[in-house]
Amino acid sequence: MPKDLRYDRTEDQSPTKASPMNQQIAPMTGAETKAARLPDAQTVTAVKHWNDRLFSFRVTRPASLRFRSGEFLMIGVLDDTARPLLRAYSLASPSWDDELEFYSIKVQDGPLTSRLQHISVGDQIIIRPKPVGSLVIDALLPGKRLYLFATGTGIAPFASLVRDPDVYQKFDQVILTHTTRTASALGYSKKLVADILSDETLSEIAGGKLWYYPTTTREETPKMGRITDLITSGELFRDLDLPPFDSTTDRVMICGSMGLNTDLKKIIEAAGLREGSNSEPGEYVLEKAFVG
Ligand SMILES: Cc1cc2nc3c(=O)[nH]c(=O)nc-3n(C[C@H](O)[C@H](O)[C@H](O)COP(=O)(O)OP(=O)(O)OC[C@H]3O[C@@H](n4cnc5c(N)ncnc54)[C@H](O)[C@@H]3O)c2cc1C
Ligand SMILES: NC(=O)c1ccc[n+]([C@@H]2O[C@H](COP(=O)([O-])OP(=O)(O)OC[C@H]3O[C@@H](n4cnc5c(N)ncnc54)[C@H](OP(=O)(O)O)[C@@H]3O)[C@@H](O)[C@H]2O)c1
Repeated sequence: MPKDLRYDRTEDQSPTKASPMNQQIAPMTGAETKAARLPDAQTVTAVKHWNDRLFSFRVTRPASLRFRSGEFLMIGVLDDTARPLLRAYSLASPSWDDELEFYSIKVQDGPLTSRLQHISVGDQIIIRPKPVGSLVIDALLPGKRLYLFATGTGIAPFASLVRDPDVYQKFDQVILTHTTRTASALGYSKKLVADILSDETLSEIAGGKLWYYPTTTREETPKMGRITDLITSGELFRDLDLPPFDSTTDRVMICGSMGLNTDLKKIIEAAGLREGSNSEPGEYVLEKAFVG
């Protein structure tokens, strides 16, 4: 199995390192006392804040949990009345990893993430071990080239897939695009790809096959623009020196807002690709990165 791509723990927020986040802990105060009562409890092992709207964290993995890279499950905390407050989260870690990784938005008035953003190492959270989802290789027909189109936190399921050796066994090329409003919101995917390419085992498997195409829409970076516009103008294909979509060889996965999913679906279907599912594999699959 590939070496675990752990965070640099010197960057992690640990309970012993006081930070503004830790000082205003509301949800997890008394985690130790709550822990005993938490159903499906797992322990946080690392936390990294990417900016004021995004963070990622790792937790221990339930011994019995099996999942396919790209799936999601329900995670959460206990609310003020000690009832589980759960939301859907993509597993960002690959299926071989001995811990679980998640990449999360911070919605300041969001019921879950207004609390979850304050977790630190040693806290416990709820992981419901029932993974599901359509962003799995099994839902795609065999092909040569796999496009992974993500916006915002939609990168999470693809962070799992691009670290999965099976993906590179099934596809000659894996093109990961990530579009965000700001430059700092690309931090997670940039480190993800850099870590893969510097990992001894994964770089052998993914090197030369994994292509990364980051773009922003509201802050200047080397590549600007919505991915939908970059596809329809042909700029994406010119930049990567690839032919336009070909339904006989190209397979596509989409994960973003409802707007992105709807617009991209039209473009992909106009190119002749048909939507697949677990029961009937096709040429593309999509999933919402959030509801809203
Ligand atoms: C299949 C699926 C997988 C998901 N995977 C992830 C994931 O891996 N990481 C993640 O951060 N969220 C993910 N979400 C969204 C997640 O379930 C929650 O909505 C999110 O954690 C916010 O929870 P909340 O209770 O704080 O606010 P909510 O009441 O759930 O949301 C409040 C509002 O915040 C906005 N919002 C919510 N989630 C996001 C987001 N991810 N990005 C941008 N805006 C958002 C929406 O406008 C929403 O109406 C996923 C949702 C679905 C349906
Ligand atoms: N990101 C922030 O800094 C920020 C700050 C405060 C509040 N919010 C709120 O948080 C919510 C989610 O924000 P988010 O930035 O995480 O996700 P988002 O609004 O889905 O944007 C992420 C990326 O997807 C692009 N995009 C959105 N719709 C698209 C479409 N139909 N086709 C192609 N590309 C599309 C956006 O481009 P465009 O920029 O062109 O839309 C942006 O680059 C929004 O409701 C927003 O109002 C976000």
